[in-house]
Amino acid sequence: MAKIIINGPAKLKGSVKIEGSKNAALPIISATLLTRGKTTLSNVPEIEDVRNMLRIIEELGGTVEIARNNVVTIDTTKINGREPNRILVRRMRASILLVGPLLARNGKVNLPSPGGCFIGNRPLDAHFKALSKMGATVSENNDTYSIKAQKLIGTEITLNEMSVTATENIIMAAVLAEGSTTIKLAAVESHVQDLCRFLNKMGAKIEGIGTHELFIRGVKELLPINYRIISDEIEAGTYIIAAAATNGEVVIENIEPEKMNYSFLQKLKEANVNFKTDKNSITIEKSSHLRPVKIWTAPAPHFPTDLQAPFAILATLANGSSYIHESMYEGRLNYLKELKKMGANATIADQHRAIIVGPTTLYGKKITTLDLRAGATLIIAALIAEGESTILNAEIIDRGYQNIVEKLTSLGAKITRLEEKKGAASGTTC
Ligand code: EPU
Repeated sequence: MAKIIINGPAKLKGSVKIEGSKNAALPIISATLLTRGKTTLSNVPEIEDVRNMLRIIEELGGTVEIARNNVVTIDTTKINGREPNRILVRRMRASILLVGPLLARNGKVNLPSPGGCFIGNRPLDAHFKALSKMGATVSENNDTYSIKAQKLIGTEITLNEMSVTATENIIMAAVLAEGSTTIKLAAVESHVQDLCRFLNKMGAKIEGIGTHELFIRGVKELLPINYRIISDEIEAGTYIIAAAATNGEVVIENIEPEKMNYSFLQKLKEANVNFKTDKNSITIEKSSHLRPVKIWTAPAPHFPTDLQAPFAILATLANGSSYIHESMYEGRLNYLKELKKMGANATIADQHRAIIVGPTTLYGKKITTLDLRAGATLIIAALIAEGESTILNAEIIDRGYQNIVEKLTSLGAKITRLEEKKGAASGTTC
């Protein structure tokens, strides 16, 4: 267990380097199971979810070498396991991403249920329906899914929702399947596109990347390669918001604005955040007259749910009423209860909708994070708050943000992290 203590208000100044994308790294690491040999990945974020995924690969018989500078080499020659480690799987919902590659490689996978999640109900039926249509059988016993396929056969699949990990799982199952697969209503998030580029570099034949209809011609084998993972647009968005909220001046480096979600960049403009983009960086300048906005989260290219909570901090500073409609998750407005303790004027209408009226001054308090993005949000809230804030359950933030305390310190924040006595991890991760 860890807690983070912040003395605010801060004004962030300087530059910060963004790491590789968590949500691209997780499927790409899993996709190395589709080949035999050594794959070298660079721009791999050093975060807890990635460490867990790498441990799972090792437990399955792979070899992992972690070099300095975010480079990881994975040798999948000797993979022989079919059942990923139960404890590791339950720590991370993204372990569902092992299903497609292990099924394609071994014809069978037993996956302990990745479990529930604090941010709401996240069905897996899109994954299993699609794999069944490709010839797999899926059964569940003792909280473990057993998925088998003598042979995966390409087919036409229309997803019942544009699920990110379901799209990724089907892509990974289809690249080595017999025949061709069409995925309609495919997710188009930047990390889904990065997985496709990675697989194509290995020899896969995926067309339609970045559209909602993917066409995949199965190939006989994929070859190990070297690949650089895209940078994390959610981490970048978090620092952009932190800089703007503190009326700071920050250069966000190692991010390609061209590849970022443009609804998010558009909302920043509407909120009157002062920024300019270059090929590999975004510069935030003083942003003092913030405007209220209306946010509706939805699959890309719409506003990303993972940046909904951080954006709400800007709403507490803006002059007027902001409206948030979190259309995707039922549990992703709970952080507002913590912001209210700090002085935010927020009304939660129901599980999906809230109104925030600003401007308000936030005050330091003892607050608790329930999920990764809520954790980052509370950090930004504490940065703008008057006085001392203590954020509990802060270890959740390690799942997605490399060195957040060190990075914010280098930008001038007064932030420290304290480890509390070892206890069980705080619930299932998302
Ligand atoms: N949903 C809809 N409509 C859709 C698609 C999804 O309502 O068209 C709902 C789902 O029912 C579910 C939620 O949105 O409640 C998320 O669904 P999805 O299956 O897309 O989520 P996921 O694939 O399990 C990935 C990310 C999440 C991110 C979501 C949405 C990874 C490993 N995880 O999850 O990341 O929030 O997509 O973009 O890629 C995070 O990084 O903090 C995180 C939770």
